[in-house]
Amino acid sequence: MKKIVILTGAGISAESGISTFRDSDGLWENYRVEEVASIEGWYANPKLMLDFYNERRRQVEKVQPNAAHKALALLEQKYDVTVITQNIDNLHERGGSSKVIHLHGEITKAQSTGDPFWTRDIGYNDLHIGDCDDHGYQLRPFIVWFGEAVPEIERAAKITTSADILIIIGTSLAVYPAAGLMNYAPQNCVKYLIDPKAVPAGGIAHLNIIREKAGKGVPELVDKLMNE
Ligand code: OAD
Repeated sequence: MKKIVILTGAGISAESGISTFRDSDGLWENYRVEEVASIEGWYANPKLMLDFYNERRRQVEKVQPNAAHKALALLEQKYDVTVITQNIDNLHERGGSSKVIHLHGEITKAQSTGDPFWTRDIGYNDLHIGDCDDHGYQLRPFIVWFGEAVPEIERAAKITTSADILIIIGTSLAVYPAAGLMNYAPQNCVKYLIDPKAVPAGGIAHLNIIREKAGKGVPELVDKLMNE
């Protein structure tokens, strides 16, 4: 079975109604990254951070996977598929994908501030100051913030080294180490990039660029791959 590795970013969830970060009216136009998405922000004002991610969680509960998430799940009928996503939403899983690696964490989980390996499913419930693990440590959102290590990156890189096909969807490739993953793909790997804007993927050989929104470009590519 051929192996497909898919790297996704905020753009794949845009048509579900979740704002991206760096587009006009993206989240980082309305919030300061350092305040709501960095470890320093957490130490400075944990309540602001909890409120910010409570809002994100409520939004994820309201939205639905779109045609792109659903189309990717169909690929599993013919290929060994791993989705590596920078997104903290659960729309790949809800769209039917079975192997999903979340590089930047998951909004439906809490993490202990006393033990980073302690996580718990919280569904769509809010987190508050005073919510603690069994040892009395404050809970925080299970999100990889700026200034923190990306624990899943090694597993993701290893999987990418064995890809026959790599598909990059809806990411500005502005954030490392995620943006560097494509460099782990073998030379003969067939590569596609789906994004309505030009993104800096220079230097990647044989990259097939599809300048479309995910809702159109992904189902079309999946159709092609299912008929190859
Ligand atoms: P960005 O907001 O940086 O980039 C979103 C990309 O999606 C852009 O290239 C857009 O052109 C594209 N896009 C917009 N609408 C689209 C659509 N309908 N279909 C396909 N593509 C579309 O988001 P990311 O690259 O995901 O990290 O950002 C990476 C990380 O930066 C995030 O995981 C987050 C953020 O700070 C943390 O918070 C740790």
